[in-house]
Amino acid sequence: MNFFITGTDTGCGKTAVTSALLLALRGRGHRAAGMKPIAAGTEDNGRNEDVEVLLAASTPDMPPGSVNPCLLKAPTAPHIAAAREGRSIEWATLDTAYRDLAARADIVLVEGVGGWQIPLSPALHLSDLPKRWNLPVLMVVGVRLGALNHALLTAESIQHSGCILAGWIANVVDPTYVYATETIEALEQRVAAPCLARLGWQDVAPMTRLAAGLTDAATALEDYRHPIA
Ligand SMILES: Nc1ncnc2c1ncn2[C@@H]1O[C@H](COP(=O)(O)OP(=O)(O)O)[C@@H](O)[C@H]1O
Ligand SMILES: [Mg+2]
Repeated sequence: MNFFITGTDTGCGKTAVTSALLLALRGRGHRAAGMKPIAAGTEDNGRNEDVEVLLAASTPDMPPGSVNPCLLKAPTAPHIAAAREGRSIEWATLDTAYRDLAARADIVLVEGVGGWQIPLSPALHLSDLPKRWNLPVLMVVGVRLGALNHALLTAESIQHSGCILAGWIANVVDPTYVYATETIEALEQRVAAPCLARLGWQDVAPMTRLAAGLTDAATALEDYRHPIA
């Protein structure tokens, strides 16, 4: 089964959690690939940091062009970045890359862009990706002040768009926020999908430590049965 990873905002930890999940799944013997179908924002070397991080966490030899088929230069919303370059986002390119990864790996984790309410073009929306590829959605909640509102709105919007929210991961992104536990508990009572992991703020070697905190979440992904055939 493959999954789509979204989150409460940009910077909520989607790439960190996706990479850590990939490591946890590989540790359980899977061939696991991260995918960033659309990335916006390149470094001086012409590369995108999320793509590099996902490639490094994936089983080796996943083709970079399939991990990231659409790379836009400007660090902004995809439809704005694409318009600047006079480009449009093409399904054919995205579909080919997804099919390639799905054939090479037994689990593909597809990271979205920004939060959930993201236009990809005048006609396309981020939610068209999980819908087209029939992917259950995982929501990364960046736990900090304001997370309750962001998470409840995001969960509602995922369900409203016709996608299935398979679970969510609490990821503490503000080490000074002392109400993380209460916030997570309030969400557990209100989000109609299981909390698969609670990740604290990690100061050292986040990937390895985050991965250690995702063993049960990796098992939940293995056991997940998607209701839409
Ligand atoms: N649990 C965590 N502990 C420490 N740093 C984290 C944690 N989660 C995310 N980060 C850091 O926060 C920043 C934003 O995370 P990232 O995964 O890039 O967010 P997103 O992909 O949602 O934009 C990165 O520098 C990442 O390493
Ligand atoms: Mg990211």
